[in-house]
Amino acid sequence: MRTQPTPVETKAVYDEPAIQAHCRRVGATAVEVAKKLGWKGEQQRALRAAADSHHIFANRVGPLLPRLLEHIFGYAAQESPAGAPPGEEMAKLLEMSCFFVERWEFLPYEVARFEQMIEELRMMARDGFFENAHVEGLAKVPGASLAEVKAVVSKLPVFPAAALKAMQLAQNPLTSAMQMEQIVGTDPVLAGEVLRMANSPLYASTVPYRSIRQAVVAMGIPECCRILSAAAFRPMFQSPLIRPLWSHSTEVARIAESLARLTGKVEPEEAFLTGLVHDIGRLALWKLPSRLTAQYTALLGHGCEPMFAEVLLCGFDHCSAGREVMRHWGLPDRLGEAVEYHHQPERSDSVLAQVLYLADHCSGSQEDLPSMARFRHAQESLGVTSEQLRSISSPPPMC
Ligand SMILES: [Fe+2]
Ligand SMILES: [Fe+2]
Repeated sequence: MRTQPTPVETKAVYDEPAIQAHCRRVGATAVEVAKKLGWKGEQQRALRAAADSHHIFANRVGPLLPRLLEHIFGYAAQESPAGAPPGEEMAKLLEMSCFFVERWEFLPYEVARFEQMIEELRMMARDGFFENAHVEGLAKVPGASLAEVKAVVSKLPVFPAAALKAMQLAQNPLTSAMQMEQIVGTDPVLAGEVLRMANSPLYASTVPYRSIRQAVVAMGIPECCRILSAAAFRPMFQSPLIRPLWSHSTEVARIAESLARLTGKVEPEEAFLTGLVHDIGRLALWKLPSRLTAQYTALLGHGCEPMFAEVLLCGFDHCSAGREVMRHWGLPDRLGEAVEYHHQPERSDSVLAQVLYLADHCSGSQEDLPSMARFRHAQESLGVTSEQLRSISSPPPMC
């Protein structure tokens, strides 16, 4: 029986993007733990480099890791030169990090939170699988609590009431342009935005629209509602760091609305509004103390997906933070549930969560690991085919 892969197989495995992404996550996790253990930059660099090649064979190299560190980086397996951790200990940290990352990668099929994973690792450390100090180092990596996020959320601007009112009006087929005009007229900034859009090349009018009512009639109430909602939220995404999040949110909103129209299972206006705020938890996380956002940026820079970086640094993700924002805004619970489960739609009965998941997928977002199980689940729940999904073309940029 053949036990070793051939060189060709080895190269194929090593070149596989999913394996490389896994290796980056393992390196990032190991380095964060190493910082908690007080290991120096040199060891951190060695850990990251060893993590990059720890799946050089189809299975974990496991016992080969100490050798790998010894041969490549000069860390002897048993000795501890100049106070550095021996190669064997570094290898053990990589093993634990690999286990943690694999556990996280299997989450589409299981329910587990960071604390539960730490408890599992503690039990395994008691059974001698991992070093207790490494597990405790990992437990200390999250630097923010949900209470801190709640404090950040409480300082967010209030929910723009005009957006909710516009959505309710757009859902009513009897709504008149005059009613829409009244909503738009309550805020000069929103009124200016509606006029600006009505006079933009998108609507190519030969005569300029000078009144809100003309603009509403020209664009139609649903489009006016979309512009109003987008204009109401956009000021929250002004900082250059989070501006890409705004383009992503408007794109997901447009796709979610198209999916809602295609399936007829949710109100298109509600899908649009929820699409706009589906990642509002990420906005909240960007407002955490700068030491955390700097760490977050570094992890993203090392190729970690936002969902993984969030779990590692906070113990929870932007979906939980988003639910807090929705509560803070006093929005209907069904919208909060959709936001909370937009990356885990299989854990909720919310049809809107399925819509958001697929809309996020169609937008090409790489916030989380792609999951065929989730994708199929959302497709089947909504009854949409892959061809139909492809037909939902990438929407034009908005505002
Ligand atoms: Fe998201
Ligand atoms: Fe997203």
